[in-house]
Amino acid sequence: MNFTAVKYVCVSGGTTHSQERKGRFPMGKTIAIVNQKGGVGKTTSCVNLAAALTAQGAKVLVCDFDPQGNATSGLGLDKTRSPSVYDVILGGAPMSRAIVSTKWADVAPANKALSGATVELIGLDRREFRLRDALEEVKGSYDFIFIDCPPSLELLTLDGLCAADTLLVPVQCEYYALEGLSDLLYTVRLAKQRLNPTLELEGVLLTMYDGRTNLSLQVAEEVKRHFPGKVYASVIPRNVRLSEAPSHGVPVSVYDPLSRGSEAYELLAKEFLAKNRTPR
Ligand SMILES: Nc1ncnc2c1ncn2[C@@H]1O[C@H](COP(=O)(O)OP(=O)(O)OP(=O)(O)O)[C@@H](O)[C@H]1O
Ligand SMILES: [Mg+2]
Repeated sequence: MNFTAVKYVCVSGGTTHSQERKGRFPMGKTIAIVNQKGGVGKTTSCVNLAAALTAQGAKVLVCDFDPQGNATSGLGLDKTRSPSVYDVILGGAPMSRAIVSTKWADVAPANKALSGATVELIGLDRREFRLRDALEEVKGSYDFIFIDCPPSLELLTLDGLCAADTLLVPVQCEYYALEGLSDLLYTVRLAKQRLNPTLELEGVLLTMYDGRTNLSLQVAEEVKRHFPGKVYASVIPRNVRLSEAPSHGVPVSVYDPLSRGSEAYELLAKEFLAKNRTPR
């Protein structure tokens, strides 16, 4: 890809360095990856979309906002690293100190300390805006910031919704796929009305798709009916390489670049970039 360069200053991992920024994307667009249903592919999509976007020239931050820390380990980082996102939103550490650079994306790591945050945030000032306030410092250094949310609609996810410009919702192609989406949409509506009026839906991503089964086809049709124009044409197939890559601490594009899973996230990244390119 040929990018017209705009110089900008990137703060990352505590060091400041210059970076060629393309000037073709909205600066620091923040996308929360949400679905309160567990195991639908939020983290897999976060890690692999981020890596595919980096490979295509974007500057990306993955903010792990799940106490499970799966995005952190999936990108090869030690979960015991500190400062972590917990120290940022509760200990007042600057976000730039928590960020670690990897070959595939910068990462703000998380670990199980974050599970206490749900309770510790109660009673604090601007508790729903802790993440948003913390990201403000580094927003200008990235094209895209992805927040990997936990599988719940509690306070951490609410902080994710308040920090985000848009939401990316992975939906697993299974029988109960749409169950729970109404709860998610209700929470999103409340967050939009009361806390973050400009929050929009970025897109809905079909995951673990198996085109040989009627069920996958039916779920895809149903999801498209519910979210007209918002479902990505790129679908993520069920692919064992995607489930193996995290145990090696690398994205699938490194673990098995020719796998169907890797190709799917590469196509998704192209579609995502095409939708986000600002008019010249
Ligand atoms: N397309 C896929 N094909 C095969 N396995 C997948 C695929 N996507 C995700 N998985 C596997 O399914 C499991 C759940 O995926 P993942 O952790 O990305 O979901 P999640 O929504 O982030 O889960 P949680 O809600 O617990 O955070 C993982 O073991 C992952 O490796
Ligand atoms: Mg996850």
